[in-house]
Parts: sequence; structure tokens; C-alpha cells
Amino acid sequence: MPGHIAIIMDGNGRWAQQRRRPRMIGHRAGARAVNRTIEFCLERGIAALTLFAFSSENWGRPQEEVDSLMKLFLGALDREVDELHRRGVRVRFIGDRSRFSAGIVQRMDKAEQRTLANAAMTLNIAASYGGRQDIALAARALAQQVAAGTLLPEQIDEQLLGRHVALADLPAPDLFIRTGGDTRISNFLLWQLAYTELWFSDVLWPDFDATILQQALDDYAGRERRFGLTSAQIAADAAQGALP
Ligand code: FPP
Repeated sequence: MPGHIAIIMDGNGRWAQQRRRPRMIGHRAGARAVNRTIEFCLERGIAALTLFAFSSENWGRPQEEVDSLMKLFLGALDREVDELHRRGVRVRFIGDRSRFSAGIVQRMDKAEQRTLANAAMTLNIAASYGGRQDIALAARALAQQVAAGTLLPEQIDEQLLGRHVALADLPAPDLFIRTGGDTRISNFLLWQLAYTELWFSDVLWPDFDATILQQALDDYAGRERRFGLTSAQIAADAAQGALP
């Protein structure tokens, strides 16, 4: 069973188009699929779920769609946080919050503070997030330490940079899922997905349900994760409980 699942929820627009409805109807149906997914992960004891809700590139969509999505997020924040808190979910947001309205930022902060001590599951919402931006910000933080004289350039290595990217306090995603038929990572968690198992589905996000998620989990269960090692080494490490 994966401890951490990361999902690109793609296909809302096409789902609506197929029904000759406005794209926002697809996003609303997508929000219901988000609730189903959280429920499923809680039932299965998945420790962390990271959802790509809005990329840094999505700001470039038609203004009307961006505005409607913001309204949807605001409504979801107002409606869902009580229930998530009740279910013991810790909610966090990753990405550039400075681009959101004050109302949304305030609700994000409040949701994070309110659910800080919850331990049933960590739900990370990537909003105005970009993987390259994440790595660039980590590099900037280290450069600032070098400039301040508190860090030597030769002290910078993978471990240190990895401690400055988003979600550094969580194990990296074990399983990445993308719906909607495209087989790309689309600037999601570039650093964090280095050894993640990737699983793609043609299903459009609003149709995502427990059956499809179970297919992904079954597929994941049959995979051998070698982290660059050989099968024999992995078997020996697993016997000693020494896998990353
Ligand atoms: C991608 O589908 C989806 C988005 C850009 C928005 C994701 C938002 C939701 C799932 C709704 C609610 C989320 C939360 C966290 C409350 P697309 O529009 O790119 O679909 P298309 O590729 O078919 O056009």
C-alpha cells in the first residue's frame, strides 16, 4: 500500500464538453471526485495525499474560467474544512499563495492552522504550484544562506536541497496518478517524483472513483521498486527493513 499518493486531476473540461455543458460543470464534478478520493484514502489508511488543484501555468486560462475556479476553491474551503478537521485530516497548501486573493489566502492559512495537529492523513493541495518554481525557490533559499555566510557552497548536496523543496517533511510520493489520458508530469512535483511509480488512466477526473483507484493500487502492489539498485539487493534490504 502506498503511504503517499500524488494526483494530477485532469479531464474536467473534456468531461463537461462531452455533455455539452460549460467547463465549470466539469470542475464542479471534479470537486466531488476530490471528496470521494479523500474518503477512499482515509478508509485505506493512506498517510498522505497530494492533489494538483491549480498549476502556476493555469493562471493563463481564460479569465472567466480562472475566476470561476477561484470561486469554487473559496466555496470548497468554506464548506469542506470543518468535515476534514472532524475526520482528522491535516490540510496544507503548497505553491505561490501571493497570487491568490486575500480572502482565499486567509482561508488557506486558517485551514492549515486549524488542522495542524491532525494525524489521520495529510492532504496537500498544490495551488499555483510549479515543480520548477519549487526547485528554484529552494536554490534561492540556499543561495541566501551562502550570501549571509552561514552556508558553504560545497555543503550543498541532494539532501540539503531536498530539505528545502515543498513537502520536505513527508516521505516522497510512492504512487503518482494522472487521469485524462495524457502521459506527462506537467511541472508537478519534479524533485519529489524521482523514484515515484507512475500510473496513467484515460478516465476523466470527474469519473474517478474507488474502482479506478483500486486498479491503481493493485498495479502498484505488483511493481518492484528498485531505487537504482538490483532486485537481489532490494530483496536483501527488504529482509533487513532497510529500504528508503
Ligand atoms: C484539470 O482539468 C483540472 C483543473 C485545472 C482544476 C482542478 C480542480 C478541481 C478538480 C476542482 C476542485 C479542486 C479542489 C481541490 C476543491 P482540465 O480543465 O485541464 O480538463 P481538460 O484537460 O479536459 O480541459
